Amino acid sequence: ARLVVLVSGSGTNLQALLDASADEAYGARIVAVGADRHGIEGLARAERAGVPTFVERLPDHEDRAAWDRAIAERIAEHRPDLVILAGFMKILGEPSTTSFTMVNTHPALLPSFPGAHGVRDALAYGVRVTGCTVILADAGVDSGPIVAQEAVTVLDGDDEETLHERIKVVERRLLVETVGRLAREGWTVTGRTVRLGRSGG
Ligand code: GRF
Repeated sequence: ARLVVLVSGSGTNLQALLDASADEAYGARIVAVGADRHGIEGLARAERAGVPTFVERLPDHEDRAAWDRAIAERIAEHRPDLVILAGFMKILGEPSTTSFTMVNTHPALLPSFPGAHGVRDALAYGVRVTGCTVILADAGVDSGPIVAQEAVTVLDGDDEETLHERIKVVERRLLVETVGRLAREGWTVTGRTVRLGRSGG
């Protein structure tokens, strides 16, 4: 399967996918990495791996719809089977949401604590358990059907950074496992239920 991965930051989830996909048996390879900004470690990781990259900055376009069209075109050039949002900090709208199957990872147990500050919000709420979630992204914010989740215990003395780092250890493994299964086994979505495996058996 052909993966296009979108990043906005350090790209450690991307790195986990780069490392896993180096093995043919994984069943997926990253054909391009896209970002909404220049100069981030995620793009450097792709370049070091010899993966083509592209950047579409929102301020370079006359409005949000023009940016959405531009980034969808860049993604489509690489003919992805799956688009992986790995720490991508923009909500993609049309035409991406209807053109691609997009897999998103979020550092909280959705539907709790959606949005850009899931770790901070969970900590502030005082939960004793949080975690990470892999969803099929829809047009909303972290609102698509859930594919996989794993819990992470909040420790006394945790701050946003220590908790997020501990979540990311689990998140990177969950994302790699889930993307690999989607790529190798296929999936079907019925309402809010994602079932792995090819439909019709
Ligand atoms: C991940 O925890 C992701 O879920 C969140 O931001 C983090 C990105 O980390 N949106 P990285 O860029 O993959 O290191």
